[in-house]
Amino acid sequence: MLKTNIAGVDLQSCVYNASGVNCTTKDELLELSHSSSGAVVSKSCTLEYREGNPKPRYFENDTCSINSTGLANFGYKYYGDIELEKPYFVSVCGLSEENNMTMLKYLDNKLNICCIELNLSCPNIIGKSQVGYDFETMGNFLRKVNEIGLQHKLGLKLPPYFDMVHFNQASEIINENKIDFLTCINSLGNGIVIDTDTDRVGIKPKRGFGGIGGSVVKSIALSNVRKFYELTDCDIVGCGGVVNGRDVYDHILCGASAVQIGTQLKKEGVSVFDRINDELGEVMKSRGYSELSQFRGQLNEYE
Ligand code: DHB
Repeated sequence: MLKTNIAGVDLQSCVYNASGVNCTTKDELLELSHSSSGAVVSKSCTLEYREGNPKPRYFENDTCSINSTGLANFGYKYYGDIELEKPYFVSVCGLSEENNMTMLKYLDNKLNICCIELNLSCPNIIGKSQVGYDFETMGNFLRKVNEIGLQHKLGLKLPPYFDMVHFNQASEIINENKIDFLTCINSLGNGIVIDTDTDRVGIKPKRGFGGIGGSVVKSIALSNVRKFYELTDCDIVGCGGVVNGRDVYDHILCGASAVQIGTQLKKEGVSVFDRINDELGEVMKSRGYSELSQFRGQLNEYE
């Protein structure tokens, strides 16, 4: 009932983890693989091991999470060597174009990986702007990636866009290159969350500025899923603000083929997938649907 397909890869459930949450160590990746998650995505990797930003670098309250992890990861070869029993996506987030090229070429030869999710939207690297917000850099970079002629399916993790012109500009670049799927959205960059017990910012890095996730970002996630569903031929993976099965259903209504869970996975652990799969199944049954294709993209609008 919840089966789906992204970029030609079959998933038994359309629900899986968002990159960054509980997916940095091999043990965490194995735990995801043994859960009822439909797939597994790794933490975004860089060329070298990174310790990441000083802690505390994650904080949450009832409506949102904030993180500034600073790309703490074990380096791309670590993720390239892991074998899982589920479709395994490696997220790549190089600190330079050259680093990205090196990692993409290496990971492309790894048959244990099904797809690469190229992250154009990390908001937490001190002194670096997001490629996804710099359309000239993004266009030039994706042309070079395209020229490699990757064997693996390639997706992009996009930042949230808020302006209709930006949706059009990003889509134009995407449509000029061979991109198989888009993951919409990464966290909302550079928010502040206050710890109301102490009147202090929730996290230490960047004086409290970090990427926002959780239920507050759902509306922006849905609009981004909808726009890129309309403007590109890519499969869309929704990400943002999913707490329950109805939230997944809403992402699919907007056009998502699969949906990732970030903040709620961090709060609840991998049993979140059992609960959300069940809840999504119930919403579908209540409407007489037995497959995602019966309602994907079928969002109603006023006449
Ligand atoms: C980090 C945060 C992100 O949102 C991302 O896309 C990649 C890395 C981080 O701070 O580690």
